[in-house]
Amino acid sequence: MSTTAKLEIRDVEQRFDSTVALSRTSLNVRDGEFISIVGPSGCGKSTLFNIVSGIQRPTGGRVLLEGSDVTGRSGQVGYMLQKDLLLPWRSTLDNILLGASLTRRVSRADRAHAAGLATQYGLGDFLDHYPHAMSGGMRQRVALMRTLAFARDVMLLDEPFGALDSQTRMEMQQWLLRVWAEQRSTILFVTHDVDEAIFLADRVVVMSPRPGRIRQVFDVELQRPRDLETLTTPEFTTLKRDILALIYERDAAPGAPSPSSGGESPSSTPNGRQA
Ligand SMILES: Nc1ncnc2c1ncn2[C@@H]1O[C@H](COP(=O)(O)OP(=O)(O)O)[C@@H](O)[C@H]1O
Ligand SMILES: [Mg+2]
Repeated sequence: MSTTAKLEIRDVEQRFDSTVALSRTSLNVRDGEFISIVGPSGCGKSTLFNIVSGIQRPTGGRVLLEGSDVTGRSGQVGYMLQKDLLLPWRSTLDNILLGASLTRRVSRADRAHAAGLATQYGLGDFLDHYPHAMSGGMRQRVALMRTLAFARDVMLLDEPFGALDSQTRMEMQQWLLRVWAEQRSTILFVTHDVDEAIFLADRVVVMSPRPGRIRQVFDVELQRPRDLETLTTPEFTTLKRDILALIYERDAAPGAPSPSSGGESPSSTPNGRQA
């Protein structure tokens, strides 16, 4: 493993007037890592993604991609926003090409690349379909593919499966893991579902509200590939219990010391580097 992190979030902080939306946050992400982020609504998850994607310049700190400062520079990573809607008047293929078409003239090679990738991941029969003629799961795949097709190195996915029923969701999780493994991408994934967070990730980052910050980072040492069986292993159950305990303890007593985190202060998480 290289010593340089793929992505380094260094002392990033976001204030909106007098409100601190995100207090000093640091995290190193390894190349090819899958990171899940959980935390209550309003704790700064989307703000963190806006900053990492460069569409928002933080009031403090820096973002480094392979060692280069990309703070406030957009277009360096793929970003699927929390409400990433498909354009209803564009076909599947043209929706996938949307990002590319905003920055340049779409070439024949771009179209071939997008169509090839879409076909590889099960959308081949839907290239000419419009969003209204597809299921929720299919639309989510198109939205994900749009993020993936032209920026597959690092991807930020903000609650991409939030609106899906549980069966479709499970299928999409498996599908995403396949894409991630085959493309060797690095993924940061926001979800409010602790099962989903653990199932997908190498590490789960738990955030806490007001002001938003990283509370603790958990290693997920479950074997891959993962499947339904994974959800019933003792390792999964123990990890889920620990994460839920942290979340509920915080809800019960905001700011209270944290006995379940082994007496560690918030600034010394097991492996997420906090400055
Ligand atoms: N542009 C903005 N102006 C002022 N406050 C904002 C802005 N964007 C986000 N916030 C505030 O920052 C906090 C974090 O928001 P957000 O990152 O969307 O949380 P999450 O995604 O975890 O639900 C919230 O209190 C929100 O109201
Ligand atoms: Mg959000």
